[in-house]
Amino acid sequence: MKTAVTITELFDLDADLLVLPFASEGLRKKASAALEAAGLSDAPLNDFKASVGETMVLYPRSGKIRASRLMLVGTGEAKGFDDWHRAASAAASMAVDLEASSVVFDLPAPAPKAGTGMEALAEAVVEGALFGAYRFERLKSGKLDKEKKKTAAKGKAKPAEKGIQTLTLRVPASALAAAETGMAAGMAVGSAQLMARDLVNLPGNYLQAEDISKAAVDSGKRYGYSVTVLRKKEIESLRMGGLIAVNQGSVNPPTFTVMDYTPKKKAKATIALVGKGVTFDSGGISIKPSEGMGDMKSDMAGAAAVIGAVEAAARLSLPVRVIGLVPATDNMPDGNAQKPGDVITTYSGITVEVGNTDAEGRLILADALTYAKQKYSPDVIIDLATLTGACIVALGYQVAGLFSNDDKLAASIESAALETGEKVWRLPLWELYDEQIKSDVADVHNTGGRGAGTITAAKFLEKFIDGHGKWAHIDIAGPSFPAKGASKVNGGSGFGVRLLVELLRKWA
Ligand code: BES
Ligand code: MN
Ligand code: ZN
Repeated sequence: MKTAVTITELFDLDADLLVLPFASEGLRKKASAALEAAGLSDAPLNDFKASVGETMVLYPRSGKIRASRLMLVGTGEAKGFDDWHRAASAAASMAVDLEASSVVFDLPAPAPKAGTGMEALAEAVVEGALFGAYRFERLKSGKLDKEKKKTAAKGKAKPAEKGIQTLTLRVPASALAAAETGMAAGMAVGSAQLMARDLVNLPGNYLQAEDISKAAVDSGKRYGYSVTVLRKKEIESLRMGGLIAVNQGSVNPPTFTVMDYTPKKKAKATIALVGKGVTFDSGGISIKPSEGMGDMKSDMAGAAAVIGAVEAAARLSLPVRVIGLVPATDNMPDGNAQKPGDVITTYSGITVEVGNTDAEGRLILADALTYAKQKYSPDVIIDLATLTGACIVALGYQVAGLFSNDDKLAASIESAALETGEKVWRLPLWELYDEQIKSDVADVHNTGGRGAGTITAAKFLEKFIDGHGKWAHIDIAGPSFPAKGASKVNGGSGFGVRLLVELLRKWA
């Protein structure tokens, strides 16, 4: 998608689609003026209420306007950038369905009440547009597509490329520079999020541990940060017993990827981000029921979000050092697989009774968390993981579970969540939950019985941060891959990329 900012008079712009955003406040007055200028009656306003993401497509007749279509899109109360993100996303998604290849989005002055003006507004709109226009089609050959066959048979030119080809923001002249800066940031963060979505959507046979590492290496080469991949031999000699145990039943070797973005100027803080990279979770010997098991290709969404966040931090040249750590493997049953009842020794030396091989994420994260603390002594450690089905039961598909041993860190994450619309809800780390993960034969047990499954998983992870005082765990099982109908998103959402970037900016 190409992007541009323009100050050309709106109706002089040539485009397949002209998007006009409206808030619910003052809607009738503002929108009827715009419609009148376009030679249209205000009748559509009997139906259009400008709720967030509501769209209405109109086809102008008169010559007053050069674009072939007009779209009204609602920003609701336009309370914050999240509303703009959602509006832009809905508009862009509709634009793709309409096969509009050139889209102009009108950004009015003055900027909305909530924020710092045009720069942040332009960023939110570009991120939203990228998000809404995203489709995962790389595994479709098109061979069964009748329309395409017809064009091919007639020897016609290749059909026009799908999706939005150019996105133009139209802004008041005084805001041109700010809009350009915001647009560039929006492209950096928005495309990092789409990269994460691609990784999540790729099925297990297309994405093994080695492929996750390759994605990180490629990103590092492209955007100038260093990436080191530890392979099976090194993982074994480091005695990363959690990662080794989970990988035991697999024919594909594990990897442990270390991304290191260090800013040119002195870093204001060092943040370690840890992401669960289970490329497919069958449950192992504690095998899952077959229904819905295919969704477990998304069990590396934490890894994808971490790679996306490091990439975006590098592209934005944020003044913080960001270490991304991704332990990756699939979780498979075979003759070598770990068994329920096994006791393993993790990288930390802490022994774990594996009561259930389907609680594998915490085993590989245990090693990575200890590694983060011991190797980098970061100011902050944050892990993202599709850790528990119980988190979906508790909070659904649009909200992640948040845990932290530091109230200030938790508050920063909550505020970043409100700003980006990637919602989190904090749950407790009370000591009383430790009772549930006691083991008779090892230091700790990897499952905690029926109650509070999301919390006991977090309590397990807490044992492996080696006393670090500023740690947060975000359980993204729900929002990273929402069930059909539970959210507007289809498949992988890239949840966490925007949240983490917003958080990293707080140290800037
Ligand atoms: N990857 C799953 C959690 C999950 C479930 C994510 C559904 C997204 C959707 C995790 O490895 C798992 O299997 N957790 C178990 C833990 C249990 C065995 C203690 C669970 O949630 O059932
Ligand atoms: Mn599992
Ligand atoms: Zn899992």
